Amino acid sequence: MNSFINESNFLKGNNAEDLASKFGTPLYVYSEEILRNRMHNVSQVITKYPYTANYSVKANTNINILKLAIEENINCDAMSVGEMTLLLKAGMPEERIFFVPNNVSEDEIEFAIHNGIMTSLDSLCQLERYGEVCERLGLNEDDNARRCAVRINPGVGAGHHEKVVTGGKKTKFGISESDIDKIFEITKKYNLKIAGINQHIGSLFMEPTPYLEAVKNILRISERFGKLDFIDFGGGYGIPYHKLDDEKDFPMEDFKAKLEVILDEFVEKVGYVPLFKSEPGRYCVAEGSFILSRVHAIKENNGIHFAGCDCGMNVLVRPSMYDSWHDIEVIRDGKIVNRENLKTLTVCGNICESGDLLAKDRELPEIKKDDLLAILDTGAYGWSMCSTYNSRPRPAEVMICKDGSVKEIRRRETIEDLMRLF
Ligand code: LLP
Repeated sequence: MNSFINESNFLKGNNAEDLASKFGTPLYVYSEEILRNRMHNVSQVITKYPYTANYSVKANTNINILKLAIEENINCDAMSVGEMTLLLKAGMPEERIFFVPNNVSEDEIEFAIHNGIMTSLDSLCQLERYGEVCERLGLNEDDNARRCAVRINPGVGAGHHEKVVTGGKKTKFGISESDIDKIFEITKKYNLKIAGINQHIGSLFMEPTPYLEAVKNILRISERFGKLDFIDFGGGYGIPYHKLDDEKDFPMEDFKAKLEVILDEFVEKVGYVPLFKSEPGRYCVAEGSFILSRVHAIKENNGIHFAGCDCGMNVLVRPSMYDSWHDIEVIRDGKIVNRENLKTLTVCGNICESGDLLAKDRELPEIKKDDLLAILDTGAYGWSMCSTYNSRPRPAEVMICKDGSVKEIRRRETIEDLMRLF
């Protein structure tokens, strides 16, 4: 593919150079159409049985994107009080929020209870703590908050990098199958009721086999719990980060068909139908954004050709943190430069670290000073992992709406914002 931006009609007639001059760079640019489309896709993963997709908001918590999730009829999972607050502020009803934390304080648990949000506990210690909070609050035995969930470690992991594999023997997440009897001891002690179980094997797989294996596994484990209200299989569906090299999409249709066969067998065996859930983050939002960045310098150092832009690791940390690949399109005079006459270039940011690289030895069209770069697929774990490192304010975000209008959905942070904390 020569250009994802052109082929997807991402800008709907808007010009990248105009966006850059109006809103400045670096700038996160979103497509309402792509975001809605991907959210709709995940809402259809299971159609034969009761199902909800929970968008995992850690991928992107812009309140305007959370509102799209509400409109597209998907629920959400949250990891922190901040994420729950943003969801409530966006107008997400509490019964559509699932709190899936790790190592949280009593205050955080209490926040979820006070707001009527279902919590999943991911260790025996946290389950015990949840029980203690219920006792301390003097909740009645039949109080809804005594219903909670537990996160099971599926024993299988997958992901694009060791740092994002969350299932399997070596990770900090979830309760092992061998500890299930201890779950029942704790629930008995504190009059808790396990309403559902959840798992998450890790983030970004393009080949669904490990996920499907983990689904079979959690369904088998679920039988230990008797009838459950819900069983949540977790997220992790990948997106093609190498789309300019024609990488294929996650095989959604094939995945859905295989999943349905597994669910059929389960339902037939156990004789009841729980609500099934999944927790996709990246799939919903990654492809719905690119970062527009200005090239400020080019140079050759010992045979390496560098293009230095204003998208540092403070704006997009994934390449430095996980060696992640993001495709890059070059824009000159408002037009995408064709992918021909390629040169080997290293694209870097403006941060004081040698690891501040967006692309190393990448075949790209020639990049000139003052060109714009579009760094693709940055809607997931992009802005949400931004920092103010080197005291650089965090970037603005704009949405290209379905009708082609442009809406600023987060203003650029200012130096004054940074000073306000002192
Ligand atoms: N559910 C739970 C419990 C999770 O921990 C995660 C992601 C998800 C769902 C959503 O996973 P997704 O569908 O987005 O793969 N910062 C890393 C990814 C970290 C994922 C953390 N957990 C990255 O930029 O690749």
